[in-house]
Amino acid sequence: MVTRAEALPPLLLLLLLLELSVSVSCRALTLAPPTLEINLDDKPEVRWTPLKEAYDIEYLKKAAADIVDSTVPKWVHHAIKPVVTSLERYVPQTYAGEIRGMATVLGGDLADIILLNFAYEITAFCTSILAQDTRGNVYHGRNLDYPHHILKNLTVNLIFRKNGKVAYLGTSFAGYVGLWTGQSPYKFTVSGDQRGTEHWWNWWKNFVSAFLLHRSPVSWLLRETLEEAESFQDAVMRLSKTPLITGVYYIVGGVRAGEGVIITRDRAGPVDIWPLDPLYGGWFRVETNFDHWRPPPPTDHRREVATKALNATGQANINMDKLYQVLTLDPVCNQITVYTTVMSAASPGNYSTVVRTKGCQKTD
Ligand SMILES: *[C@@H]1O[C@H](CO)[C@@H](O)[C@H](O)[C@H]1NC(C)=O
Ligand SMILES: *[C@@H]1O[C@H](CO)[C@@H](O)[C@H](O)[C@H]1NC(C)=O
Ligand SMILES: *[C@@H]1O[C@H](CO)[C@@H](O)[C@H](O)[C@H]1NC(C)=O
Repeated sequence: MVTRAEALPPLLLLLLLLELSVSVSCRALTLAPPTLEINLDDKPEVRWTPLKEAYDIEYLKKAAADIVDSTVPKWVHHAIKPVVTSLERYVPQTYAGEIRGMATVLGGDLADIILLNFAYEITAFCTSILAQDTRGNVYHGRNLDYPHHILKNLTVNLIFRKNGKVAYLGTSFAGYVGLWTGQSPYKFTVSGDQRGTEHWWNWWKNFVSAFLLHRSPVSWLLRETLEEAESFQDAVMRLSKTPLITGVYYIVGGVRAGEGVIITRDRAGPVDIWPLDPLYGGWFRVETNFDHWRPPPPTDHRREVATKALNATGQANINMDKLYQVLTLDPVCNQITVYTTVMSAASPGNYSTVVRTKGCQKTD
């Protein structure tokens, strides 16, 4: 139900891949990530034990250490360990429990697992796209880019169940309790893109001060919204207003025509709300990592390429496969692209994620 490879017959998938590699000069090797079920009726401390079924724990442990080492300089790592452990008191109960449970599963140091969870908060580059076809179906796609190859091996689809039913689902990395991509069936889909470039030194200062002010990490608010919001409107409200530890773009798709917005956030609240506007030609919206009303840096062509490709596709022809193809174009998909998800809240069974095992490499 959740993976693209399952949703498409193998021959079709092969044809799709061939077509892509021939026509867009971007070679894409893809793989479906594992899918885990997380039971929200379990205590937070034991929810993540299913990781043991899908992963070699020794490998996970090494991967986690690798990510922390490459994100947090060694001296900072040593200096902040005591601070991090005491910060646990400020982490919301549920997530604190889950992070403790994660540390138990991985057999690692609690401070390291907390750091791992915040390491992902800083360097996620991404492209997210919303599009509405002429019949009013809303599609949502995203690429998650992160300059660490190991994440391709940690990418996992998660199905969160409550009272035996699917409450929401998403795509994440093993060891991480937040979500950058997810779907609340028949309600909304949401993705987060980093806003601008925060450096680790600013990030850490912000993290400590903001945390004491009870602000939420952006990936936690995303997950909390999937868990609690009743509708598209409710989700947009929560994602716009809840104080955050840093700025971000939240991209939200709904189930009805016109339900789609890109929310530009700073720590305190919304800076800009950019809805789909299909009656006036705005049938798609592209967000990378820059404010949509400003030009991106001259070296970054992701927005331009995606916009042109969508325009060329046309509203009458857009669908999940076409959206996936746009997300495969160079440089929308690039060397550090970890995974691609396409989804549509009104057709929750079509949620699909593929891991770009080799990123996308130019062939020309
Ligand atoms: C990811 O997993 C594959 C297959 O198990 C392995 O060959 C590769 O080295 C791993 N990559 C990293 C960066 O650990
Ligand atoms: C989009 O397509 C229309 C008509 O096909 C064309 O006039 C317009 O210039 C295109 N815009 C972009 C940004 O490519
Ligand atoms: C979902 O998948 C089914 C089966 O492949 C397909 O017929 C349907 O058009 C898809 N729906 C959307 C909204 O893409």
